Amino acid sequence: MVLERLMACGWQQGEAYFWAVAHDLPIDMTLPRALRLQQLVQPLEALMEGERSGWANLANAAAAVFSATGWHWVGFYVVDQAEDNLVLGPFQGPVACTRLFRGKGVCATAWERNQTQVVPNVHDFPGHVACSSASLSEVVLPVTNAAGEVVAVWDIDSAEADDFTAADVEALEALTAVVSKMWNAWTWVR
Ligand code: SME
Repeated sequence: MVLERLMACGWQQGEAYFWAVAHDLPIDMTLPRALRLQQLVQPLEALMEGERSGWANLANAAAAVFSATGWHWVGFYVVDQAEDNLVLGPFQGPVACTRLFRGKGVCATAWERNQTQVVPNVHDFPGHVACSSASLSEVVLPVTNAAGEVVAVWDIDSAEADDFTAADVEALEALTAVVSKMWNAWTWVR
């Protein structure tokens, strides 16, 4: 029914298929969380292959992980080269800080070191930027372009302390690798 409606609107079959997959995430919600995240890798890649807009793809990536996990905040900060800081990108969750600056916080550390940051207790991380007082643990993964430069970070916050297992982080790194691999093919409407 949905497919027929989309086709009637002029969508190609491939686009309609991607939309349907995105609407009903093809993951088994009874599986442990890390396995659900692993299950997202292929459908997310297929979804993003059907769209050139970086904004649209980051938005769906954030929504997919948010829906699959129930984590408190899932989203992207994008490197603003002109301003030399990080600007809020597509996300799911509570309203967040719009700019993050070098030398302060978990996201800036992941950006500057080009290294995943896993923070079991945000109160123990010097300079942690508390956009939401409900966040207790956090993981931030750098997104890189084809030249290996950090172009964004994927930030995920949990309302539970010590909530990111090694298996969660491994699956999130696989998802981030897909975003990085595709980054150079994307366009950005200003
Ligand atoms: N806690 C982050 C700031 C972003 S919010 O968590 C959405 C940091 O310390 O960089």
